[in-house]
Amino acid sequence: MKVIVVKDQQEGGRKGYEIVKRHMQNNELQVMGLATGSSPITFYNELTASDIDFTNSISINLDEYVGLPYTNDQSYHYFMKEHLFDKKPFAKSYVPDGMAKDIAQAGKDYDKIIAENPIDIQILGIGQNGHIGFNEPGTPFDSQTHEVKLTESTIKANSRFFANEDDVPKEALSMGIGSVLSAKRIILFAYGENKADAIKGMVEGPKTTDVPASALQGHADVTVIVDEAAASKLT
Ligand code: F6R
Repeated sequence: MKVIVVKDQQEGGRKGYEIVKRHMQNNELQVMGLATGSSPITFYNELTASDIDFTNSISINLDEYVGLPYTNDQSYHYFMKEHLFDKKPFAKSYVPDGMAKDIAQAGKDYDKIIAENPIDIQILGIGQNGHIGFNEPGTPFDSQTHEVKLTESTIKANSRFFANEDDVPKEALSMGIGSVLSAKRIILFAYGENKADAIKGMVEGPKTTDVPASALQGHADVTVIVDEAAASKLT
């Protein structure tokens, strides 16, 4: 894993943009895997402020809440439109269908989409408990897109975006760890002291399903972009 320590989230977003731009210029980026959350926002801001053109590219998002209408401003469909797609449209953008009647089938359909459109660069954030996507501790490393029951800690962390904790959906549809590992390259953003333990576990800890992101140790091309606080527990 390559760890790049940056001054702040602004510089992190810029570094991520530079990597993506280079691969675009080298014709190595047709399909981009995307994440929501606060960590990639400065990266999306860099993309939208740039002249980068995704109108011939495909995007595939990591996850979506189950049962939250796409018009809800906390749905990941809404987030992506607001932060990226409205300003930088792709030829086609896929986000898991958390409103599907048959969630298990929606997961299978999504795996088919990923298989037909192999991801060139996957963007990731990381949860305080080491989750990637909505893959909570205990998720098998070979998991594909699946329905997830969110843990109490993730519901708590995400409640800051909702009027109250009871409004946070309890399930999500998420690409699995195996789906994430199938990407050719991975860029993970993390900022702040509350991510320091997860970053240490991911980079230096044993490879264990207790820390889902530690699965990335088995991937050949991972770039971790962190500020000093998130990197503070690395040796
Ligand atoms: C978002 C996602 C999550 C977040 C993680 C970190 O699509 O899959 O794994 O990346 O919860 O969230 P932030 O960046 O808000 O700290």
